[in-house]
Amino acid sequence: MQSVDAVRADFPFLNQIMNGHPLIYLDNAATTQKPRPVLRALRQYYTQENVNVHRGGYARAAATTAEYEEVRTRVAHLINAPSAREVVFTKGTTEALNWAAFGGAVSLKPGDEILVTVMEHHSNLVPWQVLAARSGAVLRFVEVTADGILDWADFQRKLSARTRVVAVSATSNVLGTVNPVTAIARIAHKAGALVVVDAAQAVGHMPVDVQKWGADLVAFSGHKMLGPTGIGVLWGQRAVLERMHPLEYGGEMISAVTRDETTFKEVPWCFEGGTQNIAGVIGLGKAIQYLERQGIGAIQAREQQLAARLATGLRALPQVTVYGPVSGKQRNGVVAFNVGSLHAHDVATALDAQGTAVRAGHHCAQVLMKHLGVSGTVRASVAFYNTTAEVDALVAQVERTEAFFKKYGMG
Ligand SMILES: Cc1ncc(COP(=O)(O)O)c(C=O)c1O
Repeated sequence: MQSVDAVRADFPFLNQIMNGHPLIYLDNAATTQKPRPVLRALRQYYTQENVNVHRGGYARAAATTAEYEEVRTRVAHLINAPSAREVVFTKGTTEALNWAAFGGAVSLKPGDEILVTVMEHHSNLVPWQVLAARSGAVLRFVEVTADGILDWADFQRKLSARTRVVAVSATSNVLGTVNPVTAIARIAHKAGALVVVDAAQAVGHMPVDVQKWGADLVAFSGHKMLGPTGIGVLWGQRAVLERMHPLEYGGEMISAVTRDETTFKEVPWCFEGGTQNIAGVIGLGKAIQYLERQGIGAIQAREQQLAARLATGLRALPQVTVYGPVSGKQRNGVVAFNVGSLHAHDVATALDAQGTAVRAGHHCAQVLMKHLGVSGTVRASVAFYNTTAEVDALVAQVERTEAFFKKYGMG
């Protein structure tokens, strides 16, 4: 990996003043910043390459189509998919997970069970809840232990021959927990369940090998891994994608249309109806190139190191509760915390006034909030372009915030 200074020079967003202070951006789990090669590619696409793909017969159309399809190969390489034809472009993780739930990968009847975990983001919970309500299936939750990891005994207890789907996040967007996807998939498959992985916080932040995971469907978003918004991926085992049906019918996903019927393109193109987010795909390709140049293993090590430093610093403050596993190896770059009884939004506002951007609230994980017994948390999330000085500054700011509210008898 390049030096952090060299990396930061590639991210113009980071070089700005917020509320009179140099901005410290620690909301990377919400969305990451974009490096210059991605920004350049978006500009270049709209200035020189802006044609539709898979349609035009002229040279520019062929070149842009080739570039678009090359990104599919790049994505496959990043996640070690056996074939680029298993890579479907979507709007993002949310759309990909909705397709996983409603695309016919599994057909459920009353009494069947869907197993999710208490730590799921709403995107990997609400679609399953709705599917359960429509089909008469039962949605069950695997609990999380007091130290924020998946309760393995509970998982084994709840997994049964009735379980038709196991839907789990590779890493939690609140607790930072890294889940044992390979082990989960192995025993879920033995029970005959479809395994769906929400990898929104994993891809680009840790080495992901979908073959090693052995899952059936994996979803992730470009914007959480240096790419543009509005582009994501549903990867699926070929046989699983082939038994699914498209959720959007129309132009470009067809093979032939008569007055009476339509035949469809093969997987994955049958899922990409209408004009796609071509700029998004091209930008995603540049993001992957950038990540691979830095080295995904090195990115993971750096983010884990920064998060461990942050969690340790925050835990040392008397009023602060940090959620999630203590061990740096079992977590990624997300650190959620609360300061005494202060409202998370008040803490985030105080940090904002000191130049630091963090997120506060339920983080689209209300079931987890209920489990933790809080209405929300503050969440700081690092990326490999953050510095140890920034992380230390956040700890100092939280300490000042704690002292400030204490002076007025609060917290
Ligand atoms: C774990 C997890 N799953 C799903 C999502 C949804 O991603 P998107 O909003 O890009 O669809 C997020 C976004 O925060 C997330 O962190």
